[in-house]
This record gives sequence, structure tokens and C-alpha cells, in this order.
Amino acid sequence: MKVFGLASVRPTVPGAGRTEGVGVPVVLDNVSKRYETLGEPVQAVDDVSLTCNPGEFLAVLGPSGCGKSTILLLVAGLVPLTGGTISIGGTVVSKPYTNLGMVFQEAVLLDWRRVMSNVLLQVEMRGLNRKAYRSRAQQLIDLVGLTGFEDSYPFELSGGMRQRVSICRALLHDPPLLLMDEPFGALDALTRDKLNLDLQQIWLASRKTVFFVTHSIAEAVFLADRVVVLSPRPCTVEEILDIDLPRPRDHSVRETPEFGRYASEIRHIFASLGIL
Ligand SMILES: Nc1ncnc2c1ncn2[C@@H]1O[C@H](COP(=O)(O)OP(=O)(O)OP(=O)(O)O)[C@@H](O)[C@H]1O
Ligand SMILES: [Mg+2]
Repeated sequence: MKVFGLASVRPTVPGAGRTEGVGVPVVLDNVSKRYETLGEPVQAVDDVSLTCNPGEFLAVLGPSGCGKSTILLLVAGLVPLTGGTISIGGTVVSKPYTNLGMVFQEAVLLDWRRVMSNVLLQVEMRGLNRKAYRSRAQQLIDLVGLTGFEDSYPFELSGGMRQRVSICRALLHDPPLLLMDEPFGALDALTRDKLNLDLQQIWLASRKTVFFVTHSIAEAVFLADRVVVLSPRPCTVEEILDIDLPRPRDHSVRETPEFGRYASEIRHIFASLGIL
């Protein structure tokens, strides 16, 4: 993938707000979430407190069903809290927070729209000027290596390519915060490794705050500044590890003793929780 400073893609887009393009802090303070159901209520999140610093890449790691997606939905203001508070850039989240980009496990694309049109969906949803954002969309498409596929339909793309389109769409409006929910979980190992590299490059060039949910220990250690290790449901914060590996990281870092030590430390935490 061609790397170019997002500086060249970044600001000066009409409609850009004051905080756009710059990472914002995200603070979770004693956050809890209980889902009411027809049967027993489900306590998904229990008293989670953590801070994601401006421009930080934070990986949230936990076993399946522990409450990771719930935490992202809470941060985005898409489901209501049952306890605690969340603030983004100092503002308490009390309704859907729109100045962010979201990427889900499966690329959520509109099958009847071409790649460019799927990326530009963002400007339609936000009432922005389509013409003004078209060149930024093209730059992002180039950035993720999809040049030449602008007019393709989603069914003509591989899973990895579809996920790249989702990433372009999440970045189009240059949000200061990116929420990613196991974005590469459904991809083959090689594509996943490649997208890990690409994402790191995008992040290094733009320094957005990234909240990255995964259940891959290796992916978390490779990408993150810090890894938040969650317990099984209801999730609480078990441990927060600083990942002090130099950047940019390439895949050879996975073979270093330091990388092995971080991964092993996390495995021990999961073992002590009875997960491994
Ligand atoms: N809308 C809902 N209503 C009731 N319970 C829910 C709802 N959404 C999630 N849950 C429950 O909350 C718990 C946490 O779910 P969540 O999707 O946050 O887990 P997760 O860590 O993202 O899992 P996975 O790794 O499998 O994606 C689960 O027990 C799930 O059944
Ligand atoms: Mg999930």
C-alpha cells in the first residue's frame, strides 16, 4: 500500500469541525450496562473505568461474549448506560455521538452501490457537500490500495477489499475518533496481517484516537499503545498493559522476545481467569 501523510488527505474539507482530524480523549468512568430481556437481565459491563488518551491506539481484548461490542456501542452513545459516565473530548455522551467513524466485523456495504458511492454514503448521511469530499474519497481509496475499483460493486470485491471500503467510509469525514469492532476478525490470516500494517500506517499519519476491539492477543499487541484486558462477562478491566514496542512496527516484531513476553503475560492473565 502506498503510504502518504494523511496530512495531504486531512483537513481543509468543508464542514470540518474544530476537533476534526485530531484525536480526542475518551473517558469511561465506572461504566456499567445491564440489558433488560424477556428473561433474566444480562449484566454485560460491570464498573469499567479507563481513559483513552488523545491520539492513542487502545486495544480492548476479551473473550467472546464478555461485553466488548457493548462497550463500543456505549462509547458511540448507541445504547444507554445503566451506570457511570462516558465522555468524549470532555463532553458527556448522552445520545448518539456522531463525530466518529465506526468499522464493524463485517463490512456493512450497500450491495447496489459502487465502491466510490459506498464511501460517499458518509457525506450523504451527514448532509455534507458530495462534490467537495469526492477528492478525499479518492485519496482514501488510493491509500488503502483500491485504486481502479472505484466503480466495482461490493460483490465484485474480496472480504479484505470490502473491509478496506468500510475503513475509507469511516475515515471520510476525518473524525477524531475511530471505533473498530473486530474489523479483521472475519478475514484470512494473511489479509489480516496486511490490514494490520495498513491500519498502523493510517493511524501513524493521522493520530486519531482508536478504540480497537479484538479477541486476538497477537493483533492487540501488534497494534496498540496499550492493551486493556477484560474479564469474562460481565466484563471488568483485569489489567492494562503498556506496549512499549518501537514504531512503525512490522511483522518481524512478532518474533522478538519483547513481543513474546507481552503475549505471554496476557495469556497468563486469561489462564488465571480460567479462559485458557
Ligand atoms: N441487545 C441485547 N439484549 C440483551 N443482551 C444483549 C444484547 N446485546 C448483547 N447482549 C448480551 O451482552 C453480553 C455481551 O455481548 P457483546 O456483544 O458486548 O459481547 P462481545 O464481547 O462483543 O462478544 P463477541 O466477542 O462474541 O463479539 C452477551 O451475553 C450478550 O448476549
Ligand atoms: Mg462483539
